[in-house]
Amino acid sequence: MARRWASFLLSCLAICSLVTLAVTVKHENFKTCAQSGFCKRNRAYADTALSTTNWASPYSLDPTSVKFDRGILTGTVIKQTINTDETVRLPLTIAFYESGVARVTIDEEKRQKGEIELRHNSKAKKQRYNEAEQWAIVGGTKLSTGAATGNSAEQSTTRVSYGPASAFEAIIRHSPFGVEFKRGGETHIKLNDRGLLNVEHWRPKIDKPEPEKKEGDEEKKEGEEAVVAESEKDAAEDEGTWWDESFGGNTDSKPRGPEAVALDVSFPGYQHVYGVAEHAGPLSLKETRGGEGKYDDPYRLYNSDVFEYEMDSPMTLYGAIPFMQAHKKDSTVGVLWLNAAETWIDITKSTTSANPLSLGIGGTVSTNTHWISESGLLDIFVFLGPSPQDVIGSYSELTGYTQLPQQFAIAYHQCRWNYVTDEDVKDVDRKFSRHKIPYDVIWLDIEYTEGKKYFTWDPMTFGDPLGMQKQLDESERKLVAIIDPHIKNEGNYPIVDEMKSKDLAVHNKDDSIYEGWCWPGSSYWIDCFSPRGREWWKGLFRYDKFKGSAKNTFIWNDMNEPSVFNGPETTMPKDNLHHDGWEHRDVHNLNGMTLVNATYDALLARDKDEDKHHVRPFVLTRSFFSGSQRLGAMWTGDNQAAWPHLEASIPMILSMGISGFPFSGADVGGFFGNPSKELLTRWYQAGAFYPFFRGHAHIDTRRREPYLAGEPYTQIITQALRLRYSLLPAWYTAFHEASTTGAPIVRPNYYVHPSDEKGFAIDDQLYLGSYGLLAKPVTKEGEVAQDIYLADKEKYFDYFDYWMYEGPATVSVAAPLETIPLLMQGGHIIPRRERPRRSSGLMRYDPFTLVVVLGNTGDAEGTLYLDDGASFDYQDGAYIHRRFVYSAAMGTLSSEDLAVATGSKTSAYLKEMETVKVEKVIVVNAPESWKGKAEVSISEELAGKSSGTRSVPLDWHAREEGRAAWAVIRNPAVRIGSGWKISFA
Ligand code: NOJ
Repeated sequence: MARRWASFLLSCLAICSLVTLAVTVKHENFKTCAQSGFCKRNRAYADTALSTTNWASPYSLDPTSVKFDRGILTGTVIKQTINTDETVRLPLTIAFYESGVARVTIDEEKRQKGEIELRHNSKAKKQRYNEAEQWAIVGGTKLSTGAATGNSAEQSTTRVSYGPASAFEAIIRHSPFGVEFKRGGETHIKLNDRGLLNVEHWRPKIDKPEPEKKEGDEEKKEGEEAVVAESEKDAAEDEGTWWDESFGGNTDSKPRGPEAVALDVSFPGYQHVYGVAEHAGPLSLKETRGGEGKYDDPYRLYNSDVFEYEMDSPMTLYGAIPFMQAHKKDSTVGVLWLNAAETWIDITKSTTSANPLSLGIGGTVSTNTHWISESGLLDIFVFLGPSPQDVIGSYSELTGYTQLPQQFAIAYHQCRWNYVTDEDVKDVDRKFSRHKIPYDVIWLDIEYTEGKKYFTWDPMTFGDPLGMQKQLDESERKLVAIIDPHIKNEGNYPIVDEMKSKDLAVHNKDDSIYEGWCWPGSSYWIDCFSPRGREWWKGLFRYDKFKGSAKNTFIWNDMNEPSVFNGPETTMPKDNLHHDGWEHRDVHNLNGMTLVNATYDALLARDKDEDKHHVRPFVLTRSFFSGSQRLGAMWTGDNQAAWPHLEASIPMILSMGISGFPFSGADVGGFFGNPSKELLTRWYQAGAFYPFFRGHAHIDTRRREPYLAGEPYTQIITQALRLRYSLLPAWYTAFHEASTTGAPIVRPNYYVHPSDEKGFAIDDQLYLGSYGLLAKPVTKEGEVAQDIYLADKEKYFDYFDYWMYEGPATVSVAAPLETIPLLMQGGHIIPRRERPRRSSGLMRYDPFTLVVVLGNTGDAEGTLYLDDGASFDYQDGAYIHRRFVYSAAMGTLSSEDLAVATGSKTSAYLKEMETVKVEKVIVVNAPESWKGKAEVSISEELAGKSSGTRSVPLDWHAREEGRAAWAVIRNPAVRIGSGWKISFA
């Protein structure tokens, strides 16, 4: 107990002493691979395999067991154990889906049948965890009807052709077992090609006599197994951590013994791999087995509250998406390693050359990866592309698309730890309005509660939460309140009493209720793996239960890794038990998502109960897994008010985008420490290009609401916020695209230009949606210009003054403090709304401006998706979806309908939007031939009939210095929801 107290106090001290910038993560709190038994064993296994000439993987597929039926191949992989003569049977399935995705799953027969003994009278499940798919996978698993086994020339393989036009092929090698995936006859992915497949099978513990102690021998210290094992001949079979493992004062009892799964996945000819978020490092992943410019440790996925996380590191962070893409010129492929246990991924590259004398120079680079998980099934999905969007699209079909958020959720959020009273909140709200700074949401961190008891309000400081929210509502602003998963262990708190009496909390290994420390002190953790737990959680958000919450209250789920101040690696012991006896070890990386899932359902239910017109939930999460994108937004946790953290935020957000979870952002201004005004200003400029845009600050920092910055900073920040607001139509359309195709909202160069090899590692500039809007926020102190990389042979124009640049090139764009380097690629049409308002809700009926950017072909197009930005009515057809097309040949700009189907609410919505018009059309790089042209003619379709034509004036502005010519049509007054044509001819 004393130890727990000490560790809790230490955590508090560490957290509270951050007045100035803290600099470095406490490495000793987190395991390295060498301190993580199963990681160390599998790395050692790899070392043995890769250094042994003619290494033969001891796994083979029993050819007599192979069956293929309606898209699924089944069989048994036999493992010949290394040190004993045992054979282990591993059931194999390879499923081929209609979408062209293949899935290889390996289980272990003995565990599957429950024919193992658990140690320590454990109540844990005996099986390998096989429910990750129930959380992560929501679609795309229709089995392929076209997949077929061909007649293999050699007996030693089984071949299956599948995928679009049967262009994909899986070649299953029997001995040693391995699978090669081909597209169009070329190999793109190989499993177990390097022989690193390792399924640690169940075995009983055989107690060996303790070695006799000699005089002078010291007691074995924690973590020392690592050192001992080093000297052992066969480190891969190092038993030191099979049966228990200690770290940070906690001993993991491992009732099922060693049970890791590992596999090598090779991408021949692929130089770059991306993904496996969340890490603070470059988008293009680095090699991990040491050497100059490489990491020493594998990328780790073990959701953790990594306090003061460091830059450029493979260390784990708060969330885990075990999805990787490999990319080379004109080809992208990928894998999803569906496993929720602690996972490590080693990455190495190799160069092969046709010419042995070239020493690898000029050869083909391949990327080799090695995936290692502590427990669970081996379950890997294989994507064969060929485009980045094909891979992300298939992944999103499986794990779900980004939720289409309410419009307020993609506007600006104002947060700090903490706004201290309801009067304080109202004061901040008024000041934003007075300074004409737009914002949509104000946030309450943990201090609003009474003694950190969630679902309560501190009566001394938040005596009138409803009055406070009423004021916010007057400007259509919202409130987000934090609700964490740790429930305070204190008498007279009905929530904890109920949770205990209903037995809804996570259990210890002995099946008693688990108690640990977090913000409230002693706490219990809701077990959202339990259907009863989720149902109960859902009820807590009803307006009559969470009194003081209102229709404009939304939720922030923090600390859901879960963060446990006195737990091993600041989280729960791995031998804790969840619903149905699954060990925490098996489900750790899913834990955060289960909470958000329950909160999302709670918000849906609370409004459904109240009235029919329920709104879309908004939940922010810190911890996540594949599939979390369906439920809300994430942010990158506790960063610091330091330039490198601003810089790191861009690749981190790009990485989230290509990982199928694009609704992401970083704390603007930096969480720990006080940013300089320059840093704060630059951060807002960058934040204006984060899909999730929220300012946040630690409790010990000075107030930094934008109006406090002083001039010129306040003005410049206001401009950045207004830029975000004016582009909300484009952002919302990009979100709609993400919610239907999985496409990233902000996109890296390789995604937009998959043929441009020079740009594959570029991760400091981003494209917004499909609009050709290319931003490169300044992330370095004192910088006044930015070099922007233009990948294609196209014209680009400065967003603000139409200065023209020609690609391909790296161009220097002036970036004094008041400027965000932002270019428009020729060929696009960008919708915006230019009237400054207090919140996005107040822009609902504002007119639009269309910016037509003409490039090399002279044609341009762009889309606009619009709905009420709040409800689910769009599912009943209450939306507008248009494509604007400028045709150079015809000299016309027209609006075409993209709506796929009308529904019961279509006509009412179109009627409501009838007054919403286009108030301006700007044509950048307008043709010289328009010089002297005074007007354009407009024809509009109203109620299916042409309205005749009318003329409006055109102002043409000649080219000046490096600025493109441009033209403007003021008030064409065509409806945003109708078909129309503007003729410039
Ligand atoms: C940790 C979160 O990362 C941070 O954003 C929050 O302010 C604190 N918890 C307090 O709730």
